[in-house]
Amino acid sequence: MKKRLLSGVKPTGDIHIGNYFGAMKQFVDLQNSYESFIFIADYHALNQIKNPKKLSQNILEIAKAYISIGLDSQKAVLFKQSDVPVVTEMCWIFNSLTPLGLLRRAHAYKDAQAKKIPINMGLFDYPVLMAADILMYNTDVVPIGEDQKQHLEITQDIARLFNNYYGETFKIPLALINSEVAVIKGLDGRKMSKSYGNTIGLFDSREEIAKKVMSVVTDSRATDEPKDPETCNIFAFHKLFSKTQIEHLKTRYQEGTISYKESKEILIENLNNFLDPIRLKKKELDDNPKVIFDVLAKGAEAASKEACIKIAQVKQKIGVNISLCR
Ligand code: TYM
Repeated sequence: MKKRLLSGVKPTGDIHIGNYFGAMKQFVDLQNSYESFIFIADYHALNQIKNPKKLSQNILEIAKAYISIGLDSQKAVLFKQSDVPVVTEMCWIFNSLTPLGLLRRAHAYKDAQAKKIPINMGLFDYPVLMAADILMYNTDVVPIGEDQKQHLEITQDIARLFNNYYGETFKIPLALINSEVAVIKGLDGRKMSKSYGNTIGLFDSREEIAKKVMSVVTDSRATDEPKDPETCNIFAFHKLFSKTQIEHLKTRYQEGTISYKESKEILIENLNNFLDPIRLKKKELDDNPKVIFDVLAKGAEAASKEACIKIAQVKQKIGVNISLCR
């Protein structure tokens, strides 16, 4: 029997190539070898997005992204977190056994505290909802980028806590982090993140790509001066998008036979070659959004079926199912 894989992306807008290489590419690569549950973490986005229209658009964008990069709804269950409401019920059950200290150590909470960003309960409780997402479906593996590693450790802790209180109920899921792409850097060399405004969007137009790449800051070395590929932000992108040319580009950098301008132009061309098929598929979905609604409806049904079995088991274990006392 195939092992089960689960992962998700939060619809906060501007889905980027960090999301793609860090996590989503693995969803596609592994959809034949695992029984896959891939979802849109819309309740997780509520912390950040308070504009309902924007949230709906973002949800659709992620759904389109999943299909445009090659996820096949015949192979993977694609669904929306909010379509499986028992997940929030599970979250409450987990809340009742999660120590405060565990959540106080969470990076996202500590970052928000350090930056003096107003903190709501959703942000604080974020890792517990994530644990409910993962544990609900008897998940074996969770493909994620490095920034979600701590969340997965909290999930493991919660699963162990529950199993200790109530007996073996949850599998301990493992993170699948591909070390080569665990942290994709952005245009400014920091981690690619919407909050830094340094992203290359999965759906960026040719014009946006050209503008963004051309604006990447490099040092002032002239064409005929040797350059260090390992400290160049453009070269870091070549490693992702110019694989077949990488050795040649490296030599040209080291020998001083390429300008940063030419390097950027090569990158723009390769990035567009990579993005073109994704853009094409996305355009088809823009023209026929019914496909998305059908896929998500089917996914909601399949995911809910699984979730209802698990929550029934859990309710039995914790003692709220009194039919046993009859
Ligand atoms: P989110 O939406 O922030 O990111 C989605 C995935 O993209 C990865 N990622 C990156 N990987 C490498 N380099 C980067 N610069 C980069 N930026 C983002 C993230 O690590 C993530 O894997 N909490 C999750 C959503 C979620 C979830 C879950 C994931 C909710 N429940 C259950 C897995 C399982 C999040 O906000 O991801």
